[in-house]
Amino acid sequence: MKKIAVSSFKGGTAKTSTSLNIAASFAKFHKKKVLLIDFDAQANLTTGLGFDPDAQDSLAPVLQGTKTIDQVILKTGIKNLDLIPADTWLERVEVTGNLAANRYSHERLREVLGSLKYDAVIIDTPPSLCWLTESAMIAADYSLVCATPEFYSVKGLQRLGQFMENLGQRHPLRVIGVSMSFWNPRGKSNSAFLDLIDQTFPGKLLNTKVRRDIMVSEASIHGKPVFEVAPKSRAAEDYIALSKELLKLM
Ligand SMILES: Nc1ncnc2c1ncn2[C@@H]1O[C@H](COP(=O)(O)OP(=O)(O)OP(=O)(O)O)[C@@H](O)[C@H]1O
Ligand SMILES: [Mg+2]
Repeated sequence: MKKIAVSSFKGGTAKTSTSLNIAASFAKFHKKKVLLIDFDAQANLTTGLGFDPDAQDSLAPVLQGTKTIDQVILKTGIKNLDLIPADTWLERVEVTGNLAANRYSHERLREVLGSLKYDAVIIDTPPSLCWLTESAMIAADYSLVCATPEFYSVKGLQRLGQFMENLGQRHPLRVIGVSMSFWNPRGKSNSAFLDLIDQTFPGKLLNTKVRRDIMVSEASIHGKPVFEVAPKSRAAEDYIALSKELLKLM
């Protein structure tokens, strides 16, 4: 079982869209048994798969020790793809209940995922370097870094790089790759952005870049991955290629 934390320091870098579309692609085209974890109190992944976050339990009670992980896993409409939803209780879960007094609370997620039997677990994280993101990185084998071709996005990567380097001294964590979304193949500053990424994460930029495509947000309105709603779209093509590239690295 390989676990990937999908992260970036910045908001709106397509973490949630990437998590959903690569996980669905692993399940549908590669027959992998996949668990998606929404580990962001915004619950966009949960809503994006058509669930109501207020009607479901998140990992919060599991981390607190009041529920078992099997009790919070949901089946999605896609074969071989399960989801642990998010809710607002995830926000500040680390200062609540049992976790507040636990010095090793960052390691709880890794412990609770230990008993699972999936081929891949994909963890969607919030847009900050908070307790949730750190826990996801500690639990994961790999981190998939999300970036967009914008100055603040690539600058933010330097902070993420430092954060991961510090964490890596205590917990083994490998960057599986840097995934670029909202890509415009004709962007004027493309080579400058790619150079900056290579300075922060040498050799880690993935070949596949996900082009800007309105069908990504269209699909999430329907609670589906993009290849189900628009199989011939640029984004469907790019996400399928991205998932193949990632599987080779896992
Ligand atoms: N390749 C793309 N082309 C066009 N729109 C996209 C693309 N990828 C994602 N989007 C849209 O951009 C918005 C932000 O994407 P998403 O929610 O995946 O980012 P995020 O990094 O998870 O954001 P947050 O930091 O708030 O969690 C969404 O409306 C999504 O549908
Ligand atoms: Mg998100």
